[in-house]
Amino acid sequence: MQQINIIDAKDHVDEKVKIGVWLTNKRSSGKIAFLQLRDGTAFFQGVVLKNNVSEEVFELAKELKQESSMWITGVIHEDSRSKFGYEIAVETIEVIGESHDYPITPKEHGIDFLMDHRHLWLRSSRPHATMIIRNELIRATYEFFNKEGFTKIDAPILTGSAPEGTTDLFHTEYFDRDAYLSQSGQLYEEAGAMAFDKVFSFGPTFRAEKSKTRRHLIEFWMIEPEMAFMHQEQSLEIQERYIAFLVQSVIDHCADALETLGRDIETLKKYTQLPYPRISYDEAVELLKQNDFDVDWGVDFGSPEETFLADHFSQPVFVLNYPKSIKPFYMKPHPTRDDVVICADLLAPEGYGEIIGGSERATDYDYLYDQIVKAGLDPKEYDWYLDLRRYGSVPHSGFGLGLERAITWITGEDHVREAIPFPRLLNRIYP
Ligand code: 4AD
Ligand code: MG
Repeated sequence: MQQINIIDAKDHVDEKVKIGVWLTNKRSSGKIAFLQLRDGTAFFQGVVLKNNVSEEVFELAKELKQESSMWITGVIHEDSRSKFGYEIAVETIEVIGESHDYPITPKEHGIDFLMDHRHLWLRSSRPHATMIIRNELIRATYEFFNKEGFTKIDAPILTGSAPEGTTDLFHTEYFDRDAYLSQSGQLYEEAGAMAFDKVFSFGPTFRAEKSKTRRHLIEFWMIEPEMAFMHQEQSLEIQERYIAFLVQSVIDHCADALETLGRDIETLKKYTQLPYPRISYDEAVELLKQNDFDVDWGVDFGSPEETFLADHFSQPVFVLNYPKSIKPFYMKPHPTRDDVVICADLLAPEGYGEIIGGSERATDYDYLYDQIVKAGLDPKEYDWYLDLRRYGSVPHSGFGLGLERAITWITGEDHVREAIPFPRLLNRIYP
């Protein structure tokens, strides 16, 4: 008898198979027991008919507790009434691990309770569907950048640099020196681009931000491509093709997960249409003012402003060329204006805000040195980075996609904490 996974049931109709499962729920009457089962790959129903099984098996089926693990054997049947489409007519049950008083019962629980039990909650259908989509986005990321000729260059996690400013650094000791957990792999990707042309990194990044919003994690995963001999406009084209590819991949490969989450596919399909609109920061400020937002030129947009802008276009929208004073030191200055830099944030619609931040990079040694000093950073720590401008500096651009922000938007969840297996939040490092 073949051991299979539930997800492959369609290939084994009318066959007798063996599956390792957990019980998620059950219902029984005098002659029949319906077992809701999961094996990690999918959820489906096992039917135990009193007349088909031994007395012991039927009694066992009625007594099984939520999240007991077991081997079952039985025959796979089509089941047109269920969403999954297949079920198993159970013949034998062998309990592997008992489970008593499983804390996450089928009733409603509060978010703090669920997050305290995240290690168990991951088994439930919504978190499971979200993680399936996370996995697909990671898979599609590698596919996209490999196809486009990028080389993956891993950036270090322990660093001496602070590319995104010194206010939200995680400090640690590195033997007798100071070190920080990486805020961004960007500076290392720039070195990579000078050695491999087009590169990307994918890794955890850390921001000790005291923000308690639905968009901020303390530890999040970022995808950071960096391209040599490339100006900002070409980078924007890669960004929008990448996002459209991610959305299309989820539509193509995660239909069940999207249905579990109640995410409408037609809405997602709109986001595969390119190009995405582009507006300048200046235009964005004007548009916001015309719509009664109290914004002055020079301030960063908050969540209400970002939500308005993307909803106004009902598409992801690039906001170009922000004020220099609110952006990091490494961005390329505008050729004719000294108050803005060559950069773009990509704002997602439906209230999800910034999912990508990127820019063309400053290439001039003296300018960059000055900016490092002005940012209050120690130029000695950035000497290696300045070498990239000493030895064959070229125009180059890059960007960072916050993976959890992208997942939250694509799944339609309402908080980034849902988008990562074990979220680190201002008040949470457990489990
Ligand atoms: O805009 P950020 O800070 O840009 C950078 O770090 C650049 N060095 C990237 C680059 O050009 N290589 O962050 C990039 C993205 C944001 O657009 C957002 O999606 C996500 O990272 N992000 C966060 N996601 C979750 N929690 C946080 N606290 C985040 N901070 C940024
Ligand atoms: Mg940003």
